Amino acid sequence: MRWITVVAATLMAGTGAARAADIGQPGMGREIAERWCAECHDITGTLPRVLDGPPSFVTVANKPETTAAGLRAFLHTPHAQMPDLALSREETDHMIAYILGLKRR
Ligand code: HEC
Repeated sequence: MRWITVVAATLMAGTGAARAADIGQPGMGREIAERWCAECHDITGTLPRVLDGPPSFVTVANKPETTAAGLRAFLHTPHAQMPDLALSREETDHMIAYILGLKRR
């Protein structure tokens, strides 16, 4: 279990992107992701890549065009095959903080 904490701490420590989105808490975002997103998305970026499947959150975080504002707009619009999730403002902030925290340095 300890390595998970280390990996999480490393991910969060080094990411300016996560700090820029300081309003949300990545840990809370992770919980929401496990509940609402993991069914379709690889929320940790550790599963084998499915070519035509929904992008992993690590892939999303590392796309150059991904920004907090873009994610916010996206998460307020139901997307293909994705049930209307109706995340609250706080939940959206947490989700954004979590996803941006997956960005590689
Ligand atoms: C029922 C399946 C499903 C669920 C549940 C789901 N998604 Fe998706 N998601 C998709 C599919 C399919 C795509 C790719 C097609 C598209 O963009 O419409 C996608 C795309 C995305 C993208 C865009 C990635 C890009 O290319 O920029 C984001 C961000 C995203 N999802 C976030 C979430 C979040 C956050 C949750 C949970 C709150 C979630 N999704 C839950 C199926 C799902």
